Amino acid sequence: MKVLVTGGAGYIGSHAVVVLLEAGHQVVVLDNLANGSAEAVARAAELGGGAVPLIEGDIRDRPLLDRVFSEHTCDAVMHFAGLKAVGESVEQPLRYFENNVAGTLTLCQAMAQTGVTRLVFSSSATVYGDEHPLPWHEGLPTGTPSNPYGRSKLMVEQVLADLAAADERWQIGILRYFNPVGAHESGRLGESPRGIPNNLVPYIAQVATGRRESLAVYGNDYPTPDGTGVRDYLHVMDLVEGHLAALQALGRRQGVNVWNLGTGRGYSVLEMVRAFEQACGSKVAYHFAPRREGDVASCWADPSKAREELGWQTRRHLAAMMADTWRWQQANPEGYT
Ligand code: NAD
Ligand code: WQD
Repeated sequence: MKVLVTGGAGYIGSHAVVVLLEAGHQVVVLDNLANGSAEAVARAAELGGGAVPLIEGDIRDRPLLDRVFSEHTCDAVMHFAGLKAVGESVEQPLRYFENNVAGTLTLCQAMAQTGVTRLVFSSSATVYGDEHPLPWHEGLPTGTPSNPYGRSKLMVEQVLADLAAADERWQIGILRYFNPVGAHESGRLGESPRGIPNNLVPYIAQVATGRRESLAVYGNDYPTPDGTGVRDYLHVMDLVEGHLAALQALGRRQGVNVWNLGTGRGYSVLEMVRAFEQACGSKVAYHFAPRREGDVASCWADPSKAREELGWQTRRHLAAMMADTWRWQQANPEGYT
């Protein structure tokens, strides 16, 4: 297959490029480099052993999309392009809805026009809200995400459901990620946050290299075993292998299919700190701070639907997530820059 990967210069998209190439697919990347890097695409191409054209452009640019689809005969789209900083989305909601929702509409319009109707979309466990008992499974109704970023994902899910209901050509996989972490085993690809990291593992990694002084642990009074927040962390390589499985399964499926991508078990913030210390061989300084607004106490997936329908499950454990993050961080202390 030839696959257009939007957002392929970003963290998850670049890892997806590697597994797509390794599986024998051809790849074209479209990315506006708002939060991605051409170097990530070059390294992914090298690791995957293929040539990957990078089209520097925006998913909101319809004439560009039409040109891309006429120049490249694509069979499917993996759609990673989007803005993802939760706090920023609270300050700039219009920018987030424009980019994530309007951008996806434009992409789908261009796809429908050219007859490319197989789509794998990056959604998030945040669409469940926090009203449900754990673990979260796909049969639950979606809830109320606590911020504009999360609502942009929920809106896109709703748009895609309506689209597939109206036009039976569509084969859509909505993948609800839990917490992706880790890096490619080579240490050549990884997460390269700009500025102060928002997410736990990149922050811990920067404390470990001495770039940040101490991790603020947001809350130690949650109803969890050690009082700190619990999440379902999964290795980014497992995550992108889930995308590959979804892409293949969609060939046998019509309409919209929703799959959780998670491990099914949670770790607390302190467990994550200890696991990172094991990987890097030194202490990671931390201090307790107030809860972060919008955070839930705990969340983990019921991953059984993906296991049964995609034949996919996570293979890499916490030690590998941390060892791979550490390898990447040491080799690329400033990311790709
Ligand atoms: P990322 O920021 O590293 O990658 C996103 C890429 O999309 C970047 O390279 C950016 O330049 C590009 N992009 C953004 N807007 C664009 C636009 N309008 N046109 C073209 N390119 C654009 O983020 P990531 O962590 O790799 O996330 C990929 C996707 O997965 C996103 O949609 C994100 O919301 C979703 N997701 C991520 C997580 C996570 O924890 N990382 C969790 C759930 C869902
Ligand atoms: C994990 C745990 C924090 C940073 C977010 C988005 C979600 C999805 C993934 C995607 C929590 C604690 C964190 C720190 C801390 N986004 N923490 N100190 O919040 O589960 O999910 O990223 O696109 O939509 O909400 O992930 O890594 O930020 O936090 O104590 O400096 O670590 O409170 O318990 P989260 P996270």
